[in-house]
Amino acid sequence: MSFSAAWLALREPADRAARDVGLLEQVRTWLGAKSAPTAVDLGSGTGSTVRAIGPRAAHWTLVDRDAALLAEASAIPDACTIEADLAHIDALPLDGAVLVTASALFDLAGRDWIEALADRIAGQRAGLYATLTYDGRMEWSVPDPEDAAVTTAFNRHQTGDKGLGPALGPAAGPALAEAMGKRGYCVRSAGSPWRLDADDRPLQAELLGGIARAAAEAGTNAVGWLDRRLGMIDRAVCTIGHVDLFALPCR
Ligand SMILES: C[S@@+](CC[C@H](N)C(=O)[O-])C[C@H]1O[C@@H](n2cnc3c(N)ncnc32)[C@H](O)[C@@H]1O
Repeated sequence: MSFSAAWLALREPADRAARDVGLLEQVRTWLGAKSAPTAVDLGSGTGSTVRAIGPRAAHWTLVDRDAALLAEASAIPDACTIEADLAHIDALPLDGAVLVTASALFDLAGRDWIEALADRIAGQRAGLYATLTYDGRMEWSVPDPEDAAVTTAFNRHQTGDKGLGPALGPAAGPALAEAMGKRGYCVRSAGSPWRLDADDRPLQAELLGGIARAAAEAGTNAVGWLDRRLGMIDRAVCTIGHVDLFALPCR
């Protein structure tokens, strides 16, 4: 599964608006209290999370398997980029990092991968800031009779294997919180939903097309639903549920 730079650029402003401000400030404050902190962003894409926290908040390493996305990420001043497959957890360049970050990544991952990554993070008592994990909720202020069926099919599609084991999809946020909690971490979570309106027309149009394609691949024809939804973009506010998490060793 690959993600285009165009799609990531389209979603970045919505992600920035959706991130829980309280958790983001806690991360910045925590990093700011450290001397010369190093941080690693997993599944970085072009570096949305680094731009959200601040390129100067840490010495950043961005890890992704997509060389084209990393080429764009290399525009971030002083950041280091590494092309690698996250499946190989032991080989990830986490040594010495005080913080591991990821956005829009954990819902692509399976339970075993999440547990193994949690082991690696906890083994060095690093913090974890994981944002914009899809929680399974899609709602529109103007309902359509097929919303529930399409959402169910989309969520089923979310659980396919994307290279990090059978993905947990909407169950990933709670699984990640549990994985860190049982390793002695204090976990703070907060909702970070997209709320998209007529001003987000290009993002909504791409999103709706992607939802309909995924639903079809999961066995639900969503052609009629897509037509009606595209016709309602200007008057229906779309809410897509996500969760943000910031976890630190309790002691
Ligand atoms: C939904 S995108 C999010 C990108 C970025 N974090 C953001 O918020 O804009 C998921 C990213 O994870 C990367 N990714 C997915 N599976 C991966 C794997 N097995 N190894 C390395 N990168 C992976 C993709 O290439 C993509 O850049």
